[in-house]
Amino acid sequence: MKKEYIKKDTATSGEAWQVRIAIIGGSGVYDPGILTNLQEESVETPYGKVTVKVGTYRGEEICFMNRHGQKHSLPPHKVNYRANVWALKMLGVERVIATAAVGSTNPEFKPGEFVLVDDFLDFTKTRVYTFFEGGEMGVVHTDFTEPYCPELRRILAETAAEEGIKAHSGGVYACTEGPRFETPAEIRMIRQLGGDLVGMTNVPEVVLAHELGLCYSLIAMVTNMAAGIAETTLTHEEVLEVMAQNGKKLRSLIMEAIPRIPQERNCRCWQTPGKLNI
Ligand code: HPA
Repeated sequence: MKKEYIKKDTATSGEAWQVRIAIIGGSGVYDPGILTNLQEESVETPYGKVTVKVGTYRGEEICFMNRHGQKHSLPPHKVNYRANVWALKMLGVERVIATAAVGSTNPEFKPGEFVLVDDFLDFTKTRVYTFFEGGEMGVVHTDFTEPYCPELRRILAETAAEEGIKAHSGGVYACTEGPRFETPAEIRMIRQLGGDLVGMTNVPEVVLAHELGLCYSLIAMVTNMAAGIAETTLTHEEVLEVMAQNGKKLRSLIMEAIPRIPQERNCRCWQTPGKLNI
């Protein structure tokens, strides 16, 4: 599967992409000026077509994916997570740096700060959570002892420290169904159960990436204190505003971390028991 995805306009030469690293995020993370040889690629997957931007950065082919679609038109519960993650695998991706806006239930994690997530709780209700649908795909129970790649988390934490960017290493992401924000009672429950952050997109994205043995890391950007902790009501505009204010910091954290990612994977993500072998 890897290295087989032929570049657009090179059908005769058969030149293949070798996109090792992918960045998943919204438009705030993507800066077309960063990549050279920029191309838009439409990848056909068994779950639908996905369009990504691929290009070269410091000699390395990388890819940008907007999880909500090119025009940011899909709400969290309608995102085609399986197509997105499968498309990355088809491009040859091994490492994923994902970003997401979150509310905080933890007084130590404040708006404008980043959290390098190390575990999750799932409160979603209506999504497709797996590639293992029985039949040809089999009945498989994948190990989730280490859902997020510890090597990528360490690299991101070291980069943040050197760049003077506030990033907490470790935090539990609680995924809610949305698209509404949570009630204060839901936030109290999540806090009591060990959730530090709330967001609407990381499940099943992290689950599917782990099922394929990808190294997956999440940089959560705290945009607000969660409902009932915040002194005001929550608005999507407020979330977008804080994301815009911190977009530059987020981009430099990611782009400075990428050259530090070694070719060899020194973690266990690629040999996760019960991963899908494609
Ligand atoms: N809840 C859920 N998702 C979010 C929040 C929140 O408070 N802030 C940003 N995304």
